[in-house]
Amino acid sequence: VPTDTPICTQTELQTLVVLSNASQRTFKIDDSRKCFLKDGQPFRYISGSIHYHRVPRFYWKDRLLKMKMAGLNAIQTYIPWNFHEPLPGQYQFSDDHDVEHFIQLTHEIGLLVILRPGPYICAEWDMGGLPAWLLEKQSIVLRSSDPYYLAAVDKWLGVLLPKMKPLLYQNGGPIITVQVENEYGSYFTCDYDYLRFLQKCFHSHLGDDVLLFTTDGARESLLQCGTLQGLYATVDFGPVSNITAAFQTQRRTEPRGPLVNSEFYTGWLDHWGQPHSRVSTEAVTSALYNMLALGANVNLYMFTGGTNFAYWNGANTPYAAQPTSYDYDAPLTEAGDLTEKYFAVREIIRKFEKVPDGPIPPSTPKFAYGKVALKKLKTVGEALNILSPSGPIKSLYPLTFVQVKQYFGFVLYRTTLPKNCSDPTPLSAPLNGVRDRAYISVNGVPQGILERNKVFVTNITGKAGATLDLLVENMGRVNYGRYTNDSKGLISNLTLGNSILTNWLIFPLNTEDAVRSHLRGWGGHGNSYHTEPEPHSSSNFTLPAFYMGNFSIPSGIPDLPQDTFIQFPGWTK
Ligand SMILES: *[C@@H]1O[C@H](CO)[C@@H](O)[C@H](O)[C@H]1NC(C)=O
Ligand SMILES: *[C@@H]1O[C@H](CO)[C@@H](O)[C@H](O)[C@H]1NC(C)=O
Ligand SMILES: *[C@@H]1O[C@H](CO)[C@@H](O)[C@H](O)[C@H]1NC(C)=O
Ligand SMILES: *[C@@H]1O[C@H](CO)[C@@H](O)[C@H](O)[C@H]1NC(C)=O
Ligand SMILES: *[C@@H]1O[C@H](CO)[C@@H](O)[C@H](O)[C@H]1NC(C)=O
Ligand SMILES: *[C@@H]1O[C@H](CO)[C@@H](O)[C@H](O)[C@H]1NC(C)=O
Repeated sequence: VPTDTPICTQTELQTLVVLSNASQRTFKIDDSRKCFLKDGQPFRYISGSIHYHRVPRFYWKDRLLKMKMAGLNAIQTYIPWNFHEPLPGQYQFSDDHDVEHFIQLTHEIGLLVILRPGPYICAEWDMGGLPAWLLEKQSIVLRSSDPYYLAAVDKWLGVLLPKMKPLLYQNGGPIITVQVENEYGSYFTCDYDYLRFLQKCFHSHLGDDVLLFTTDGARESLLQCGTLQGLYATVDFGPVSNITAAFQTQRRTEPRGPLVNSEFYTGWLDHWGQPHSRVSTEAVTSALYNMLALGANVNLYMFTGGTNFAYWNGANTPYAAQPTSYDYDAPLTEAGDLTEKYFAVREIIRKFEKVPDGPIPPSTPKFAYGKVALKKLKTVGEALNILSPSGPIKSLYPLTFVQVKQYFGFVLYRTTLPKNCSDPTPLSAPLNGVRDRAYISVNGVPQGILERNKVFVTNITGKAGATLDLLVENMGRVNYGRYTNDSKGLISNLTLGNSILTNWLIFPLNTEDAVRSHLRGWGGHGNSYHTEPEPHSSSNFTLPAFYMGNFSIPSGIPDLPQDTFIQFPGWTK
């Protein structure tokens, strides 16, 4: 394995500028010089990841400008299929979903784009970007040549890729390269026919001249199933101690092209209940320096992480949900603010490439609006007629979220106690069938919690005929590994004592619409103010409820409204 020496140096680049034919836009790989060629000139990208789906559209420009000012010449983004096709054949491409506008904006700002349209993206995103409705076919093998899966992929790519074609570099746009799948070598199927199918599909929609690539962990075993002839193999790794060794794994598959680290980790992801991940600036800058000194192309993952809005967070196995924040300890914070890491990274890039002069857009101003008292309006049980306007689905045995055609949030499972439980009686999920957390009440009195992988049994008491409610929360679908086929709800029977519970009423809950349109009318009955958190334990907890608070934006202060942070001191999940 040859040691890599810097190839696409600036000197060479400047010499070749004179010779280039500017009228023809091309983006290719030069085997002999081991680099990318942009319009026939050696080119090296220093890119950063930003997920438009994790940043409000209002702030896209602000974040992109900050990325440009850091000295990046490209950005990298995923496209989450489930974000754009929430129901089969129903597409969302407007407002915060307007990926074409995002790419155009990037172009106007003068940054190139490395596109990662999946269809699987991982990304700490619900089900790795695959739509939950794929699980309507229970035996589906995701990310394989399963015909049901391929048909859905084919249809989706047939909608997405034609939108991307005019945005390709060779067609006048900013997209220089397009990734096929994501870390496919880490998945168990190892199905080359699937990769070939994608390759063919990408070429048929994007043209033969599109530069397609794959990304896998920097280990030979991972590259084995993740790569395919005709797809340029790249690797991903964080601030490891031996950069040369990491790139050598790429060189074994790609002896002749550019070195590319498609995900150089600037920080790391978080899990519920764990401290926020931190990666030191020093580790990031020294590895970045070493990669750039080798002449490598680098994408910093993430450059700005952003937020998992709504229910878009994913989870890892053994089951651990990611939180709403996707801050990632990246150079720009979740709020888009400049950090010490940002300036340190900029200084490293400056050693290799020209960094734009002029002011860097400042962190957005924040305003402290003060304390807001929250008023408890209704528990979910009290608001059932609003949350579930079409009423429950009846079923002898429990049905999953997908079976009742609700994909996110909460579903209420209701039955009656078949016998007197005057002594504490174990209610159990013997097959770990609660996905992911159930808040249990009998006639509206909290009883306990069952939780996936954690709590399989809880005691309840109540009279025969009393209403047993389990409010089941989907905490996010697994986004990585074998078990992304992550069904939610009660996916197996529950037992009370020794008998299986039957005759369920299953209420799909449309919380989003309720919050948007009805919450205002919810005050008035049985309200009490809760400025202090209520006690919480597995046997004594408060049922999930809707709370509301008002605050005013003061007048007479210029530039309001401004961003703010919300804190819930002393509250719990
Ligand atoms: C880094 O890895 C290369 C290739 O495996 C090896 O030759 C070199 O000795 C390693 N360097 C260090 C400092 O371990
Ligand atoms: C439950 O207990 C009540 C008395 O508390 C009794 O009247 C009733 O018959 C019992 N029901 C069953 C199903 O055992
Ligand atoms: C349930 O109640 C029984 C009988 O009171 C007790 O032995 C057992 O420990 C309780 N189990 C749980 C999980 O609280
Ligand atoms: C999910 O997929 C894996 C791998 O194909 C399979 O072993 C498992 O049975 C599936 N799980 C469900 C709930 O279908
Ligand atoms: C519940 O148990 C019944 C009877 O054994 C079985 O037919 C059914 O498939 C089970 N349902 C689930 C969701 O496990
Ligand atoms: C919030 O303000 C609205 C309008 O003034 C009022 O109707 C509502 O009761 C207030 N809600 C709370 C929780 O204070």
